[in-house]
Amino acid sequence: MTGVHAVVEQDGQLLRLQQPGTPDLRFHSVWLRDNAPDPDTRDPGNGQRLITLADIPADLQLSDAQVQDNTLLCTFQPENKTVAFDIGWLTANAYDHAHNTKPGRLPNHVEAWRAGCIPTRGHLPDMAQNPDALRPWLTALRRDGFAVVDGCRTEPGGLFDIVDLFGFVRETNYGRHFEVRTEVNPVNLAYTGLGLQAHTDNPYRDPVPTLQVLACLENSAEGGENMVVDGFAAAQRLRDEDPDGFACLTRHPARFSYTGSQGVALHARRPMIDLSPDGQLQTIRFNSRSAATLTDVPFDDMVTYYRAYRRFSDIVDDPEMEVTFKLAPSEAFVVDNTRVLHARKGYSGAGTRWLQGCYADKDGLLSTLAALEAS
Ligand code: FE2
Repeated sequence: MTGVHAVVEQDGQLLRLQQPGTPDLRFHSVWLRDNAPDPDTRDPGNGQRLITLADIPADLQLSDAQVQDNTLLCTFQPENKTVAFDIGWLTANAYDHAHNTKPGRLPNHVEAWRAGCIPTRGHLPDMAQNPDALRPWLTALRRDGFAVVDGCRTEPGGLFDIVDLFGFVRETNYGRHFEVRTEVNPVNLAYTGLGLQAHTDNPYRDPVPTLQVLACLENSAEGGENMVVDGFAAAQRLRDEDPDGFACLTRHPARFSYTGSQGVALHARRPMIDLSPDGQLQTIRFNSRSAATLTDVPFDDMVTYYRAYRRFSDIVDDPEMEVTFKLAPSEAFVVDNTRVLHARKGYSGAGTRWLQGCYADKDGLLSTLAALEAS
């Protein structure tokens, strides 16, 4: 590689890679040794590491570094071991740059949305047979946190065909699947027709179910539309309007509980807006029905906490944030339950609404998509 140089610095503790036209990249010797791609360090078949950190000498030093073509040759002491690194790989994995630590930033591949976002649709029979049909739908689900499916079997259990596209059902105390069925009685509308505030499901579980599938078998009722809200967009709006309130919701655990069934006592202690240690949005938990008593918020922060909680709730309820759609029989939607809140609008009139729901795992979906992208 023309003009690329490697310099060993700080008594063999650092390597400086100099490439024309770009800032130097520094790498620590221990990082390089830990990431050595040689077959004694990494299994060539499954890519798994064959050593532990204890196998790397604590007095590790780089004694030599040379660039040949597209390869960096490093010699480590006291092992006297020479390892070849691909310079393209080193550049792609470099960490010697400014790191974005802005609180509330989006994960990779994710885009925030508000009202006006058009749900991406996929046709189940096509997606089941053709990876080229499945891939854009999975990509949209990763980006938006929800997507619609049509062409499903309108029979009980048909929703499992959707999960089969990317992974496995996550069973809970509600069963392998649950019924969302309401016979609407027009002479008794007082007892039906209730809408629900947008929420994430099961925040009292740790970990929460990360995907929810809702499939429609019958929907002749007036109303009863589904509504979704991007919890990440809502969190970012709160952050921009009230940075202190946002920080308060991320800093203190909320509590969520469900004890509504015999033999079930689920409790979780997690923040409503959960960030990674470096500030990336990770999980939204928002469900007024299962929010338990707040006991982990310090006295001096409780007023700020409730101010932020109220504002977050108002943002979630703002029609500017919501996308609404009505499922017809044979249609379903999948929602990322770590991010996107869902709700049912109220009913009116006569008819039947019958949906079936189940949970599944987002990591399996992302794995299926990443494998398709790598193929
Ligand atoms: Fe729900």
